Amino acid sequence: MKIDTLRIANLRSLADVSLSLAPGVNLFTGANGAGKTSVLEAAYLLSHAGSFRAGSRENLISRSATGFSVFAEVSLESGARHRLGFGKEGGKWAARVDGAAASSFGALVQHAAVVCFEPGSHALIAGPSDERRRFLDWGVFHVEHDFLLAWRRYQRALKQRNSLLRQGGSVDFGLLEPWEAELAQSGQAIDAHRKSYLEQLRLHLARYAAALLPELGAVELVYRRGWPDDLTLDLALRGRRERDLGRGHTTVGCHRADWSIHFEGAPLREHLSRGQEKLTAMAALLSQAALYAANRGEWPVICLDDLASELDRTHQEWVVGQLLQHQVQVLITGTDVPSALETARTTMFHVEQGQVAALL
Ligand SMILES: Nc1ncnc2c1ncn2[C@@H]1O[C@H](COP(=O)(O)OP(=O)(O)O)[C@@H](O)[C@H]1O
Ligand SMILES: [Mg+2]
Repeated sequence: MKIDTLRIANLRSLADVSLSLAPGVNLFTGANGAGKTSVLEAAYLLSHAGSFRAGSRENLISRSATGFSVFAEVSLESGARHRLGFGKEGGKWAARVDGAAASSFGALVQHAAVVCFEPGSHALIAGPSDERRRFLDWGVFHVEHDFLLAWRRYQRALKQRNSLLRQGGSVDFGLLEPWEAELAQSGQAIDAHRKSYLEQLRLHLARYAAALLPELGAVELVYRRGWPDDLTLDLALRGRRERDLGRGHTTVGCHRADWSIHFEGAPLREHLSRGQEKLTAMAALLSQAALYAANRGEWPVICLDDLASELDRTHQEWVVGQLLQHQVQVLITGTDVPSALETARTTMFHVEQGQVAALL
């Protein structure tokens, strides 16, 4: 996928920005606080219906406005083109595809693939598990179209079971049963999709980890589905009823799944330096992008925020070289031109106080 044009209104400090992007490398330079990361955030929003930055979605709206919007024209290898939009207007969050309101955010996200490496990406390795589940589910969603349906059924049943558990002491366990059956059924589908996705991801990860972190030796990707290996989810939920009632929520299931990366030379996450966590996150993100390409026949757009301050020169060059080789559309930010781009053909933009200008 390539983003041909991007139009941004009232996203943080970007009041009114209109860009034509090159199909190759696009570099956004400017001082700290100029609005560079916000440009990448705009692209990412179309593909995730949320930001990679922490905090409420409301923070995206410029302080001087009541809503914001991002519109993009994207094109696919097949020649197909789509107009995508996301934002908050008139107090409502909305997604648009080809001029019409999308039935759900999923309908938007399905059309957009943007993978982003940014200064917070090490959280994918060292942060809480929600981040890793989001990564996993985004990947699965783009290859397995019935995943979203199972995921929605699961979330709905989970909400119902939790609301019964919150009633406390006197809850009739019989009332939990239909929701547990629903959780078990949709959960099995989710688990199978996640497992098969990670099986495929493993092959790509071995390659990227070997290139980016050769000093750490062989890499292993471990998946934990969220309930004990020797039980069906149905039985695991049943067995936890008393305990879940005490806690007031469901303590086993797909919403507790996690995955982790282990190296021969660094078996525990705590053995990794911050720099190695970043490289591991980069390996995971590139693997996700490469797997997307293997399944869909084209690479997602790749954003590299503050590349030069995140990776050393050798790693920057290797990553950029890989992306150029696959003719990926890349959006990079930096306070200066990163050394890795000195020889690459680059389309440059200057960002200053929320204005973005193309440099000729
Ligand atoms: N909701 C908001 N409304 C207005 N300005 C904002 C909002 N959120 C963040 N900003 C400002 O947007 C600017 C751009 O931030 P950012 O895109 O992170 O810049 P850069 O990546 O160039 O350092 C910052 O000056 C920040 O204070
Ligand atoms: Mg920034």
